[in-house]
Amino acid sequence: MSVLALVGGQWGDEGKGKVIDSLAAKAHMVVRYAGGDNAGHTTVNPHGTFRLHLIPSGIFYDDVRCIIGNGVVVNPAVLLREIAELHEHGVGTRNLVVSDRAHLIMPYHILLDKLEEQRRGHGAIGTTQRGIGPAFVDKVARTGLRVGELLDPQGFRRRLEVAMELKNALLTALYNHPPLSVDEVYRDYMNFATQLRDYIGDALPMVHDAIGRGDTIMLEGAQGALLDTDFGSYPFVTSSSPLAGGATVGSGIGPTHIDRVLGVFKAYATRVGGGPMPTELHDEMANFIREKAGEYGATTGRPRRCGWFDGVAGRFSVRINGMTDVALTHLDIFDGFKSIKVCTSYVVEGRHTTDFPTTADTLSRCEPVYEELPGWDECTEDISDFADLPQNARRYVNTISDLLGCRVSLVSMGPKREQIIEVRT
Ligand code: IMO
Ligand code: MG
Repeated sequence: MSVLALVGGQWGDEGKGKVIDSLAAKAHMVVRYAGGDNAGHTTVNPHGTFRLHLIPSGIFYDDVRCIIGNGVVVNPAVLLREIAELHEHGVGTRNLVVSDRAHLIMPYHILLDKLEEQRRGHGAIGTTQRGIGPAFVDKVARTGLRVGELLDPQGFRRRLEVAMELKNALLTALYNHPPLSVDEVYRDYMNFATQLRDYIGDALPMVHDAIGRGDTIMLEGAQGALLDTDFGSYPFVTSSSPLAGGATVGSGIGPTHIDRVLGVFKAYATRVGGGPMPTELHDEMANFIREKAGEYGATTGRPRRCGWFDGVAGRFSVRINGMTDVALTHLDIFDGFKSIKVCTSYVVEGRHTTDFPTTADTLSRCEPVYEELPGWDECTEDISDFADLPQNARRYVNTISDLLGCRVSLVSMGPKREQIIEVRT
């Protein structure tokens, strides 16, 4: 039996989709456990190039059951678009299940996400404006609507009226925005219900039957540890837990069942949205990395902020996730680099530290201390054995592993499913 939680180690966009798509060949089930369509998981495989926002990246295998877990917030319109896009490319969704416990993103969540961001002005978080924060607020406030409720039209209508009375009061009184029509929202969501009916179910027995059979299950994280509500650079965080801890709650699998926590890290760092990023580059190098790696948001198209690998943040991320091993992605971006820097500690208020600070304010004052490593000229894209990587590329991987205090077990180059190699030491 093996249950693997795959978690983002940085600020998201680490290449989780690709790694899942590669590893799912050996899985029976993939469960998305957190976030919503703020995620953008890019996969390049024989079916084409896809940017999945909600559907687990295991969907490209006929025999892998894919579950959108209870920890996810679901925008049904986005989900239906995603299903349609897969069908257009000949990818079936027979094995897709949406947990009836997952919460729904409603039109007022999306509207409030935008209005709240505007109100924050200079302090804006830079959210994806997909309604994620407001949907999780309602979940915790116990005013949210769940996917399963779509199948009970009368109950849904009653709860929608209660929820919208409050939201419309907020929209009109605080934001001077016209109220939304309950009738319209109800009609749209009943329409979604008709189309999604066959996908909705109680995922828990499926998950636990799979565990009982000894199946291989992969828990697909969204976002990254540094965006975690508790441990990220608060308030520049997302509204659910991308951590391995979040994987247990977001899928209904207890921690004792999880055998492996695989952290996915990019060979450098990116961040999209607001908030401090100590190793961010503001020079030509940032542009070079961005253009070479195509670092533009898969969900919003925003240019991602780019910088060197942050070993302090990385080690913190390993700890709060209890990572057993690491997949290092996008290593080929450094092909042709004369030298590569990695951040090994911060200096803040004149003192060295390797502890990741608690507040965004302190983090914004941390100056990175770098170690400079020699680069390599060779093209690594098609190398299929770790031993064949240039010596300096192997040295880079080993340095990251030492900094993280965690074994790098996989190295990935390029976007394609097969461009991933196991690290044997
Ligand atoms: P994947 O799964 C990168 C960021 C947003 C913003 C902050 C809060 O592709 O790695 P939200 O819309 O969640 O309220 O925005 O979190 N963010 C991501 N950044 N990758 C993601 O997902 C992200 N999901 C949210 O840019 O800074
Ligand atoms: Mg992404």
